[in-house]
Amino acid sequence: MANKGNTKTALYPGSFDPITKGHIDIIKRALDIFDNLIIAVAANPAKDTLFSSSERVKLIRGALGDDERITVTHFTGLTSTFAQKSGVNAIIRGLRMVSDFEYEFQMALMNRKLVPEADTVFLMPSEQYTYLSSSLVKDISRYQGKIECFVPPNVAEALRKKFKSKKR
Ligand code: COA
Repeated sequence: MANKGNTKTALYPGSFDPITKGHIDIIKRALDIFDNLIIAVAANPAKDTLFSSSERVKLIRGALGDDERITVTHFTGLTSTFAQKSGVNAIIRGLRMVSDFEYEFQMALMNRKLVPEADTVFLMPSEQYTYLSSSLVKDISRYQGKIECFVPPNVAEALRKKFKSKKR
């Protein structure tokens, strides 16, 4: 999605394995600032993910429903290259707590060096999601814990199915 006229488009990259309510909180906040948002699942071959890239894209689409301001896709390679190709004005990242900061700061500075036209914008999720992570949700689901308050219904269902099929 290229920028049209004065509209501002941001890129929200991440693993989203799977998307949680914390990510959705950031997405809503980003859409209060930007006209359009590209949510891009990073296919990192080094990261052992539970869901494939296309499954993760499907889960994000299912969780967000139809919204013409949002494009959901996946990419391989560098976030900066994808940001440049997409012509976005900014890269969105969520900052949950101080421990996120060092890694995010380093990545933001490196991305700015690689693609100066797209600065990183950090957004803080609602306090209730600061302790949330996809790994914790997967752990809870693996042992049949309750996950409905952390993920949208389609993701909860997908997690249940995934762990059921892994048990067989
Ligand atoms: N709510 C809940 N959880 C959140 C969250 C939020 N708002 N924001 C982040 N998280 C969690 C995620 O669930 C994830 O949890 P996990 O580690 O348990 O899976 C963790 O924080 C990391 O989140 P994510 O945003 O997916 O970051 P990442 O570190 O997995 O991926 C990329 C970051 C994809 C943007 C980065 O690795 C990248 O750019 N990769 C492409 C290659 C590249 O360009 N490298 C050079 C970078 S300078």
